[in-house]
Amino acid sequence: MQNLQEIQQKAHRDIAASADLEAVAAVRLAYLGRKGLLAMTQQDLGSLSPEERKTAGSAFNEVKSAIERAIEHRERELQDAKWESVRETERIDTTQPYFPTHAAGHLHPNTLVQRDLEEVAKHMGFMVIDGPELDTDYYTFESLNIPKTHPARDSQDTFYIEGHPDWCMRSHVSNMQVRLMQQFGAPLRAAYPGRVFRNEATDASHEHTFYQFEALVVDKGLTIGHLVGVIKSLLRGLFRKDIEVRLRPGYFPFVEPGFEMDMSCLLCMGRGCAVCKKSGWVELLGCGLVHPHVLKEAGLDPRVWSGIAFGMGLTRLVMMRYGIEDIRLLMRGDENFLKQF
Ligand code: PHE
Repeated sequence: MQNLQEIQQKAHRDIAASADLEAVAAVRLAYLGRKGLLAMTQQDLGSLSPEERKTAGSAFNEVKSAIERAIEHRERELQDAKWESVRETERIDTTQPYFPTHAAGHLHPNTLVQRDLEEVAKHMGFMVIDGPELDTDYYTFESLNIPKTHPARDSQDTFYIEGHPDWCMRSHVSNMQVRLMQQFGAPLRAAYPGRVFRNEATDASHEHTFYQFEALVVDKGLTIGHLVGVIKSLLRGLFRKDIEVRLRPGYFPFVEPGFEMDMSCLLCMGRGCAVCKKSGWVELLGCGLVHPHVLKEAGLDPRVWSGIAFGMGLTRLVMMRYGIEDIRLLMRGDENFLKQF
């Protein structure tokens, strides 16, 4: 009993002397812990007679809960003091503007690649210009030598506007070609990135909405050599190294001759992978010399002026640069995907 009283007194002194929460925690461990003073005293109870044990037992419980209460009380005191000092010393100026730096937005991978391309094109003397996503059938098709019967106008591919058969969502940024030549005349160097739409079923490599980057040069005496040279310079500027390309014949009604160009796959360096379907080459763009009908449509004399044009899948370049294997990820708005860029 005497021992218990001593323990209680000592405990109260120690508790009162605890200057912070860590000190209280240490006191708690020293008295109430599994190997603490009270646990040891409790063992001694076993050596008493049943009578003695009864009185000693209840005295023990009282001391124990008194110590517990004292500790909790001290903890509360210290906690309150801590908040009090925070309240005294810390101030929030509610008139300050809120800049959530950790939650700041960033550019979409599409935008990153588009801006790089624009930068390179500007250095090469191209003006960079925006065009309408909703446009007339005339600029999207008719002016580009695409007759009404051409499969590219099939309602399967193009989104038309209900009740307005002369309007559509552009299926390529080539809707800028004649418009630019009409507006600025010749000579001309223009690059025009933008969003295009196709009424297609989606899968890992098809999306109904994607981005293209097209460039048009109108000048005297342009050749396929100029065409390839300009494209290679642009690619060198973008990837900061020489990119291997190859030309294949391709049909686009607004160029003659027309080509499709492949670039060597940057993901596998031409060895063959899932993205290039094991061929080592990826389709990059359509290109060619501007068709005389198109020049004429724009009010330019095809005997004086010639043009080169190429339109590439900007989205494809994005996938190549970042190794993205499913095109649908780009439009999904999935933060876990987006925050990687
Ligand atoms: N507009 C074509 C397409 O979307 C690409 C192209 C552009 C082809 C310019 C030739 C010249 O596929």
